Amino acid sequence: MKTRALGSSELRVGEVGLGSMYLSIRDRPSENDAVRTLHAAFDAGVTFVDTADVYCLDQRDIGHSERLIARALRERKGAPVIIGTKGGLERPGGAWTRNGRPAHLRLACESSLAALGVSRIDLYQLHAVDPAVPIADSVGELARLRAEGKIAHVGLSNVSVAEIEQARALVPIVSVQNRWNPSHRAPERDGVLAYCTTNAIAFLPYSPFGGAHGAKGLAGTGHLGAVAKRLGMSPHRLVLAWMLAKSPAVIAIPGARRVESITDSAKASDVELSGGGVAEIEGAFPA
Ligand SMILES: NC(=O)c1ccc[n+]([C@@H]2O[C@H](COP(=O)([O-])OP(=O)(O)OC[C@H]3O[C@@H](n4cnc5c(N)ncnc54)[C@H](OP(=O)(O)O)[C@@H]3O)[C@@H](O)[C@H]2O)c1
Repeated sequence: MKTRALGSSELRVGEVGLGSMYLSIRDRPSENDAVRTLHAAFDAGVTFVDTADVYCLDQRDIGHSERLIARALRERKGAPVIIGTKGGLERPGGAWTRNGRPAHLRLACESSLAALGVSRIDLYQLHAVDPAVPIADSVGELARLRAEGKIAHVGLSNVSVAEIEQARALVPIVSVQNRWNPSHRAPERDGVLAYCTTNAIAFLPYSPFGGAHGAKGLAGTGHLGAVAKRLGMSPHRLVLAWMLAKSPAVIAIPGARRVESITDSAKASDVELSGGGVAEIEGAFPA
């Protein structure tokens, strides 16, 4: 697995990581199967796992994904894996709601430290900006948590270029995580991908296949299936290879419940695409 810098931080991680959301929300696998998938990811060279306190069923289950990762890493005895978690959402009754208040972020960070079983979180991301709370208040609290040593690095999610700039005025931002896939190419148009590339901020595209539903239909998305077949790989691996080729800032975080999914996705790091290859793939995307 080839590695990339996590933005301007001192950290380098495998360029294909693992998104852990589907290991902990509805239709999740058993805990043993989920841990097996995490081990398969590490076996395949994954050294970055994306999680969140709210990857769980509801408010009583907060930290489910973080606890799973902690268990897999305990079993692994000190594997060099970097964890990115998030705060700023809640799960009342299984819904997804925003809470960017400083007091909530502090409590969420402390609860993530306990769930992960660490004294400092490698990467702590603001899950989303809360329209009821000025971004400077939310990010200001993350800056304080960083100054106290509870967080090594700060990242953002679901943000615009203007919001990244507001946050960067308060604390270094090493990563941005927005939705990006063949049917949702906003980061290429709204300037976020270019901004991250220019400013040494890692870009972690979420839902690269459009989530579990999108992943099932990926071969039938535009002509992706035909191009992937000709190149002898899954359309999932092809999409990840395309993302990695688009910018050196990209670190992929495909989701997976099954061992086979992450084992296949990790091989995207072995795919070398020329400029012509990138253009051919984009030509296969839906209009
Ligand atoms: N910041 C945010 O607001 C936000 C929002 C959503 C997601 N995320 C993050 O982004 C990560 C990835 O996004 P996502 O999980 O929503 O969706 P995704 O990665 O687009 O799709 C996940 C689905 O793809 C399937 N899959 C993965 N690799 C495959 C392969 N090589 N071949 C066939 N199928 C494959 C998996 O199937 P199986 O389940 O059957 O293995 C899984 O159901 C999440 O896990 C989470 O960490 C962040």
